[in-house]
Amino acid sequence: MATNFIWGPDGNLPRIEEHTKRKLDVLKNYLDVYFDTVVRNPAQDRLNITLVDGFSGGGAYSDGNDTRAGSPLVLLNAVEEATVRLNEGRAKPLEINARFIFVDDEREHVAALKRELRGRGYKENDPRISVLEGKFVEHLPTIMAEIMQNQRKGRSIFFLDQFGYSDVPMSAIQTIFTALDRAEVVLNFAIDSLLNYLQDASAELPLYQQFGIDSRFIADWRQRKDENMGRALTQRALMAHIHAKSGAKFFTPFMLWSRTDNRWMMLAHLSQHQAARDKMLSVHWQEQNSFTHIGSGSLFSLGYDTRLIESCDSLFNFSEIDRTKLNTELVNALPAEVHQMMENGQLDVARLLDEIGNRTAGTNDDIFQVLSELAQARELEVLSANGTPKRAGTRISIKDRLIRPSQPTLFFPSRW
Ligand SMILES: C[S@@+](CC[C@H](N)C(=O)[O-])C[C@H]1O[C@@H](n2cnc3c(N)ncnc32)[C@H](O)[C@@H]1O
Repeated sequence: MATNFIWGPDGNLPRIEEHTKRKLDVLKNYLDVYFDTVVRNPAQDRLNITLVDGFSGGGAYSDGNDTRAGSPLVLLNAVEEATVRLNEGRAKPLEINARFIFVDDEREHVAALKRELRGRGYKENDPRISVLEGKFVEHLPTIMAEIMQNQRKGRSIFFLDQFGYSDVPMSAIQTIFTALDRAEVVLNFAIDSLLNYLQDASAELPLYQQFGIDSRFIADWRQRKDENMGRALTQRALMAHIHAKSGAKFFTPFMLWSRTDNRWMMLAHLSQHQAARDKMLSVHWQEQNSFTHIGSGSLFSLGYDTRLIESCDSLFNFSEIDRTKLNTELVNALPAEVHQMMENGQLDVARLLDEIGNRTAGTNDDIFQVLSELAQARELEVLSANGTPKRAGTRISIKDRLIRPSQPTLFFPSRW
């Protein structure tokens, strides 16, 4: 086991690595955005949610002279902070009714986590918290049953911070998405470790087959290994397979560089709803250079993309420069997409977001901005939810509908 993740009986904490800090920052920022978005309605007085940490570790790290919260504490703190933040200035108090389920298969780590929780004032028999020893996959059926019993739509977040890539089978992720409409998964996946250890014989093994890896994939990887963009291309192909096999509609892969291991890790966010993906994207913009998404940011698809070979500078870093570039690219690319998707000259903005959500690094606000620019340039017309035309330049909303312009334009010529 990697020494940076050992919690022993002596109470010594492992030293936190830079990429682990980044990972936990993303988790925390995501939870903040999550709670701020799901509890928008001032009339709502309760939010039921289950937070599952399937690979919880011992709860804390040492960081120089400080102690740094591990993922279970990040989850607990995020709920406590959101409760305070969201109740500020509220007439009707809001209760976040959260259940926390922490799982780890190392007895010492479970003991360390319990120690950490006690030390921070959580009672051993706190009804909100379960700390389970054993493998995540073995506990999953009971966890699912509990979530389904308590929440009709299964609102839950699964943080699955495995070491490598073999402890969260694709079938487990599929089970989650088949049964729980409101589930989201944040999956850590050692994408480079998988690629580095691939051998011809791997194609025969179910472990690799579940990720869509066959002898053709391995042969392609062999061929590309030493190419400038060969690794990036193969990573993207693997991401496309993982997405397809996960059962999740939306998949947001972002890359995290481990300086210790000299390799890329992938922190993938999976969900069934575009709004959830939009929240995660906003966090990646916030985090900027810590995470690098590989490829162009405007409209792209996972899998092999020849544009990557043609332009090696198309690495996308979520910086302000990239945001400007993204805007320009979207202004050029969106009209054709909109044109293609329109039925009888009309397209709901919600449908557009649903369709292109997986293929852009732009958040909904970026896309609204571009649509508004296109409306100002008379490339599009916009109807509000009640069917009345919107003035060009007015802010676009998810409830609006796009209609083809009455006058022919550069992007919408007269023939249709
Ligand atoms: C990367 S560490 C977790 C770090 C923790 N999530 C954090 O951010 O503070 C992975 C943990 O998963 C545990 N583990 C390994 N295989 C497991 C499995 N199949 N099921 C549950 N836990 C497992 C290890 O004992 C280790 O504590």
